[in-house]
Amino acid sequence: MVQIKGKQFIPFISEKELLQRVSELGQQITADYKGTSPVMIGILNGAFMFLSDLSKHIDLSVEISFMKVSSYVSMSSTGKVRSLLGLEKDIMDRDVIIVEDIVDTGLSMAYILERIKEKKPHSIQVVSLLLKPDALSENITVKYIGFKIPDKFVIGYGLDYDGYGRNLKEVYQLK
Ligand code: IMP
Ligand code: MG
Repeated sequence: MVQIKGKQFIPFISEKELLQRVSELGQQITADYKGTSPVMIGILNGAFMFLSDLSKHIDLSVEISFMKVSSYVSMSSTGKVRSLLGLEKDIMDRDVIIVEDIVDTGLSMAYILERIKEKKPHSIQVVSLLLKPDALSENITVKYIGFKIPDKFVIGYGLDYDGYGRNLKEVYQLK
């Protein structure tokens, strides 16, 4: 068990399960994008660990860039998305793969997709380590999903509670 700021979290997805699934996603993306040179765009801060492991399993010549948006304060979505760091990379006519830690309501991803589309890429797909189907309210397509999970708060493997817990090797769920 892990305790952060008085909240208790219990193990939910093991390191082994995470790495196994991340490697499968990498292989699938490698096959689907064969012969192309995609740009992977990691969404900070949460996706840093997932992108790091995922990219090692992608056997293509890829570029890696980042964007930062914010919608969550503590344990809930504020309903408003803010851009904290825009995309510097020119992605016109490129195949873009957005890499996210978790799609919850989908509000952040809907916002990110709009920003990316403005830059006229050739294609856009989303890979998210986690997806909470019961919380999803936006009409977005997440092509590659690591795990579908219940609508409960999780931390670890990049995901935080009030800034803490990102360095945990496993995913934990609020007790
Ligand atoms: P959405 O806009 O509601 O889909 O929320 C997306 C963002 O909120 C994610 O990129 C995370 O940064 C954060 N988030 C959503 N659910 C959780 C959670 O269970 N734990 C930690 N962060 C979360
Ligand atoms: Mg995030």
